[in-house]
Amino acid sequence: MNKCDELYRGKAKSVYFTDDPDLLILHFRNDTSAFDGKKIEQLDRKGMVNNKFNAFIMARLAEAGIPTHHKSLLNDEESVVLKLDMIPVECVVRNIAAGSICKRLGIEEGLDLNPPTFEFFLKDDERGDPMINEYHIESFGWARSEHVVKMKELTFAANDVLKALFLAGDMLLVDYKLEFGLYKGEVILGDEFTPDGCRLWDAETREKLDKDRFRQGLGDVVESYELVGHRLGLNFG
Ligand code: ADP
Ligand code: TMP
Ligand code: ASP
Repeated sequence: MNKCDELYRGKAKSVYFTDDPDLLILHFRNDTSAFDGKKIEQLDRKGMVNNKFNAFIMARLAEAGIPTHHKSLLNDEESVVLKLDMIPVECVVRNIAAGSICKRLGIEEGLDLNPPTFEFFLKDDERGDPMINEYHIESFGWARSEHVVKMKELTFAANDVLKALFLAGDMLLVDYKLEFGLYKGEVILGDEFTPDGCRLWDAETREKLDKDRFRQGLGDVVESYELVGHRLGLNFG
């Protein structure tokens, strides 16, 4: 399999065609973006850490029966994935209140959400990724109703797997975002699961170990991502 032209350059990853029409290469760059691209910095080692972290999590999800696009690690910063027809919607599950829900609803950060809550956002940086609902997704043709049902089911299924995985490493999975796409008509988990797209707190101290360190200028961003990986038994070399 050979790397071909660039298909898309996102804020943090680049996507390349390969000579196999079913496969793409995802390049995890060191670029780190927040606030829909309004804050962007280069952080040493982040591409490598996120690429390996993502491969590890995708493998755990696949073992649990969640279909994912991840095929293999190609090198430190690149992975081979199935080419999906991406659904332009972000699926967010929240176990603990943090981030935008606190601002939107005036809720205190740290409140346990029982049951966990679910939100859809439209992938649209220009409009600040607005929150949308299932009716919007169907009315505007962003996905069919059976695919919406499947995305919700798979996002909650991932919560059970990931909450337990992080808790075993003394971490709380506060919230996370997943993106899905279609491959031969089937809904498949795409994009990434890394500390760039979730919130993770130390279970005892509630110290932030995710991209909020970058958003809030707390420092030690990549060091914290590596610490999370080490607690899961990952070695970044
Ligand atoms: P953004 O587009 O938000 O700036 P990234 O920098 O992470 O995000 O770019 C990666 C892009 O690749 C995203 O738009 C994502 O939807 C897309 N993508 C992820 N996985 C796949 C896949 N398997 N097939 C096609 N596109 C994908
Ligand atoms: P929020 O609190 O900003 O709505 O984000 C909820 C979770 O989803 C948080 O872990 C960050 C993640 N997320 C992204 O990674 N990208 C996005 O564009 C959005 C809206 C959320
Ligand atoms: N993922 C979005 C961005 O890269 C939003 C965020 O993380 O704050 O800008």
